[in-house]
Amino acid sequence: MPEASVNKGIDRLRAGVVEACRELAGAGLVLGSAGNVSARAGDLVVVTPTGAQLATVAEDELAVVGLDGTLVDGPLLPTSELPLHLAVYRSFDAAGAVVHTHPPMATAVACVADELPCIHYTLLTLGGAIRVAPYATFGTEELAASVVDALRGRSAVLMGGHGAVTHGADIAAATAATQLLEWACGVYVHACAIGTPRVLDDDEQATVAAALAGYGAPAPASPAPPHLAPLR
Ligand code: 13P
Repeated sequence: MPEASVNKGIDRLRAGVVEACRELAGAGLVLGSAGNVSARAGDLVVVTPTGAQLATVAEDELAVVGLDGTLVDGPLLPTSELPLHLAVYRSFDAAGAVVHTHPPMATAVACVADELPCIHYTLLTLGGAIRVAPYATFGTEELAASVVDALRGRSAVLMGGHGAVTHGADIAAATAATQLLEWACGVYVHACAIGTPRVLDDDEQATVAAALAGYGAPAPASPAPPHLAPLR
């Protein structure tokens, strides 16, 4: 691909990553420098630098790395969670963006439970019940491996004693997945406070998965809202 097109693609990713960082910080899904965001075009990944305040990070502060982790461009070191971001891209071809956050409700569930059960049908857009990956030190290959393992068939995972990771076809989808996960964890926490939440059984989940496959399809002028787009 000609260099000008590659640069244009990277510029678009930079803008998308910064917009997502502001949105996540504004929604209270990250605090200060907690969390990191990336998006990829081919073999290149645009990613937030380590220690970045996501509310104010600028496009020219982002790092560009190869899928092997080689720094290609950027004035600052990439996020300490680079192994995790790269492991997701290497493991899931459909992943075009990765969002790691410390959302309050999702992190609360990740500190207590082994999974977020499928208590609401919209969780099927993330693949169903969401696993909690075992705790491992931030930034390690061990954490990256356990996150990738817990992501099988899912676009979201909770991280024990830590937070959440989502991926999507693009940065908007990965961000919407984080928002949905946080909402569902909030519903779960509230439901647990007033009783025992009912879990959708296998048949109900299969029926929803089939219904989502055609959801919004007949009306190209008004596509399904991103949080209802089925997992591909
Ligand atoms: P970075 O500042 O290196 O991105 O790390 C923040 C974080 O959330 C680690 O899990």
